[in-house]
Amino acid sequence: EEALTRIVTFSSRLDAALGGGLPVGKITEICGVPGMGKTQLCLQLAVDVQVPPCFGGLGGQVVFIDTEGSFVVQRAVDLATAAVRHCTLLAEEAEQRDAAAAFTVETILSNIFMVRCHDYVELLAEIYLLPDFLSSHPKVRLVVIDSVAFPFRQHFDELRAQRTRLLNGLAQQLISMATKHDVAVVLSNQMTTRLQGGQSQLVPALGESWGHAPTLRLLLRWAGSQRQATIFKSPDCEEATVNYQITTDGFRD
Ligand code: GTP
Repeated sequence: EEALTRIVTFSSRLDAALGGGLPVGKITEICGVPGMGKTQLCLQLAVDVQVPPCFGGLGGQVVFIDTEGSFVVQRAVDLATAAVRHCTLLAEEAEQRDAAAAFTVETILSNIFMVRCHDYVELLAEIYLLPDFLSSHPKVRLVVIDSVAFPFRQHFDELRAQRTRLLNGLAQQLISMATKHDVAVVLSNQMTTRLQGGQSQLVPALGESWGHAPTLRLLLRWAGSQRQATIFKSPDCEEATVNYQITTDGFRD
């Protein structure tokens, strides 16, 4: 197993199942039906990547591309407030107390570079321009696209081949960006129904060819009244399943 830099989350089960946290330099896709918490997890990661190094974090910045208009500032404030409280409580040594004092809700919000994309053209343009931005902002360790499916839902009904071509190009750009700039790329994706052997199945949207773009897939779903995240290392290889909750403070065990 190669030694990867990782973004530690506030869910110890998820960190353990991921081998220490979310891999930097790789693409991770978060899938699930509406309400499972894809946006919540994206927001949580945007805060987690900023945790100061003396608390096990990366002290990084984040580019957050919102394609659905689902970024809620107050929710980011809630998660940031909880993260600050967490670090403040952990601080023991002088270095940690200084780092905790500098880790404020204001700095957390100012380290999130928000980009709103209204359609696939804006999204593709943003991804095309992003490498230049990353070159001049080396502290960025995470790029979030919440969600990647939404802008590609419309316009492509009779243009499947064109959509596949654009998505393949997008996947290539994201993979090369993740590697060259050493950033974690996190995408959220919707679920769609597909007929397979006469049965309808819920599968991640955007088709099978896209399914090979992410290195990791997290499938969020209900098991009874318990939220569960299942990690896939390839479309067919199920790795681990962990329970999670969405609390006032954010994504937790
Ligand atoms: P779509 O964007 O509709 O596809 O859904 P999603 O998977 O992105 O879901 P989202 O991240 O928007 O999560 C929504 C869920 O998060 C809600 O059903 C709530 O259970 C939970 N949630 C959102 N905000 C809060 C909050 O302030 N407190 C708590 N406890 N839970 C919240």
